[in-house]
Amino acid sequence: MSGHTARATFTRMQDGGPDDYARIDVIDAGYFSELPGRIMAAVAGLASEGLGGYAVDRTQHSLQSATRALRAGEETDYVVAALVHDIGDSLAPFSHGRLAGSVLKPFVSPRITWIVEHHPVFQMYFYAPHMGGTRDARERYRGHEWFDDTAYFCEHYDENCFDPNYASLPLEYFAPLVQEVFGRSPLFPETAAVV
Ligand SMILES: [Fe+2]
Ligand SMILES: [Fe+2]
Repeated sequence: MSGHTARATFTRMQDGGPDDYARIDVIDAGYFSELPGRIMAAVAGLASEGLGGYAVDRTQHSLQSATRALRAGEETDYVVAALVHDIGDSLAPFSHGRLAGSVLKPFVSPRITWIVEHHPVFQMYFYAPHMGGTRDARERYRGHEWFDDTAYFCEHYDENCFDPNYASLPLEYFAPLVQEVFGRSPLFPETAAVV
C-alpha cells in the first residue's frame, strides 16, 4: 500500500472514523519513536546558527555543558537536559528556555524542566550588566524551591561552557542517553498534552 492510499480521507477531523484514526495512530507511533534522532539532529544543527560571537559554536557549548554535567556525576536526565538546554535558540531567541523546557517536560522531572525553562534569566547574572541589563533579574524567583538548583546549573554547566580548549565528549557519545530519555513513554503526559 502506498503512502498516499494509507492516508485518511477526511478533510475535517470530526468526520474521521475508527479506521482512519487507527491508521494515523500507527503512523504517529512510528514518528514519535524517531524523536531521539530528531533531538540529536537539532543539537548538531545548532553549530550552524548565527550566534557566532562566542569562542565556541552552540553545538560545542551544548556538548561542553552535557560533558561537564556527566563528569560531575549528574543523573542521565540532567545530562540530557544540559545537552538540549539551548535547542530553542534558533526558533525562540527570546524565550529559548521555555522551548527547551517544553521539549523536555513530558520526559523528565518537573525540577529539571524548571531549571531549563528558567536558565536564561538566571544566566543574566553573569553577563547582563555588559549588555545594558541587570544581573539581578533572577531575584524574582528568590525563595522558589528550585532557585538554588537553577543558579547552580548556570554556574557549573552553562556560563562556563564557552571554553574552546575543553575536551568535550562527541555528540555520538550522548546518543544512548538521548535514546533513554526521549525514547521512554512520557512520564507526565497530562501536562504535556495541555501546554
Ligand atoms: Fe541558554
Ligand atoms: Fe547555554
